[in-house]
Amino acid sequence: MAEIGLVGLGVMGANLALNMAEKGHTIAVFNRTAEKTKAYIAAAGKLADRLTPCYTIKELAAAITPPRPIVIMVLAGPPVDEVGHELVPELAKGDMLIDAGNANFRDTRRRVDEYNGLGLDFLGIGVSGGEEGARHGPSIMAGGTPKAWGRVEKILLDISAKFNGEPCAALLGPEGAGHFVKTIHNGIEYADMEMIAEIYGVMRDGFGLAPPAMADIFAKWNEGKLKSYLIEITGTVLSTVDAQSGKPLVDVIQDTAGQKGTGRWSTMEAQDLGVPATVIEAAVSARGLSAGRDQRLAGAKLFGSPSMKLGDALGTQAAALADLEQALLAGKIAAYAQGFAVMAKASEAWNWQLPLGTVAKIWRAGCIIRSVFLDDIAKAYAAGGAIANLMMTEPFTSDLKASEASLRRVVAAAALKGIATPALASALAYFDLSRTARTTANLIQGQRDFFGAHGFERTDSTGKGFHGPWHTSV
Ligand code: 6PG
Repeated sequence: MAEIGLVGLGVMGANLALNMAEKGHTIAVFNRTAEKTKAYIAAAGKLADRLTPCYTIKELAAAITPPRPIVIMVLAGPPVDEVGHELVPELAKGDMLIDAGNANFRDTRRRVDEYNGLGLDFLGIGVSGGEEGARHGPSIMAGGTPKAWGRVEKILLDISAKFNGEPCAALLGPEGAGHFVKTIHNGIEYADMEMIAEIYGVMRDGFGLAPPAMADIFAKWNEGKLKSYLIEITGTVLSTVDAQSGKPLVDVIQDTAGQKGTGRWSTMEAQDLGVPATVIEAAVSARGLSAGRDQRLAGAKLFGSPSMKLGDALGTQAAALADLEQALLAGKIAAYAQGFAVMAKASEAWNWQLPLGTVAKIWRAGCIIRSVFLDDIAKAYAAGGAIANLMMTEPFTSDLKASEASLRRVVAAAALKGIATPALASALAYFDLSRTARTTANLIQGQRDFFGAHGFERTDSTGKGFHGPWHTSV
């Protein structure tokens, strides 16, 4: 009998099961198409000894030692409910479903209630790291009860990535907490990727650098504070040559970004919680604008393309590159500050007690945003004390002080030449607003009071609900 079951042998499910088998666990697997299951087992080599192929849901349930934990790794959304509902008649009280997809945490909360009502446990786990991570060690963000987690903890810790020997998997809170954290992970991922792409845009359009030269620059940056998986793969993507055309591959890839929803959910939840996540929002919107290629082409025709050459606007090439590296670091600090602020607020709003230090720790390896930067965040949380905003916490405060001018120069130069840097510009605006002692919201309050008698506070007295003279004068 197998220790655990898994439904869905797509890229992620297939690799997760192989990872489990490699770590010595036994797994019963099921996929809707029997051919896929057969081919999978045939290709599994020695690991097939620990994999039990099942061709019906009934067979799957019968192949797992009760109480059964069953991982569902199918497309997020209705397919998870469909698989769950198919499984239920074959399950017994105490069995457990584990949704390992990129679920919306609101769906996870609903499913927890639904399955708990049937006497079943439900664990929602966010899994990051793509295909490679699933196979050799992902970052795993779990939400559920300690009891549910405890039942599969060993397996999940075994298959997770390790950072200095520490497993990158943890129970982060109840019900949807794990999927929520995964959503914010992806929101930050969008912001990271967009800012890297914007810096690439400045190098490509502002300085006319060729992909191989840019690849070298990213490789060099990957030795410093920006060292991360995303910077590393950016270098690799830029240095890859297209076999078909002989050109740099990046030059033949269409400039329209896809997205499956997690970035958008991050911004929706941030707005819902009233936490500004402007860098993530800019990144999501930039993907949307990229996708509207026809409209962009029409815009280019209508308005013409400005001269994008930056010339010596950022000084010598060496000075410019130093600015670009620092600008990226500053933007990254703002984006992560926003992501962590969203999680802090969510934790409070839903009484999750999210261990944000642990979140940073389990993001240090395995996941897409893994970086040395996350180790600094983990250390900042480990140092104790309340962290209101990462920008106001060391070492990020010092880093921002050192990099802020570069971000300003890059955004300003790009704006003057017509190179779009929406996420970097949002990061700069967020930073500037966050350290503005007197904003311009006094005028907004005046306007609100004028048209809606919404009232305002005064700087020279306490209390609320003051009004201007306009109502009596109209
Ligand atoms: C991860 C990734 C993974 C996946 C996203 C990408 O953490 O492993 O984030 O979840 O690549 O679904 O999402 P988009 O298609 O929205 O870019």
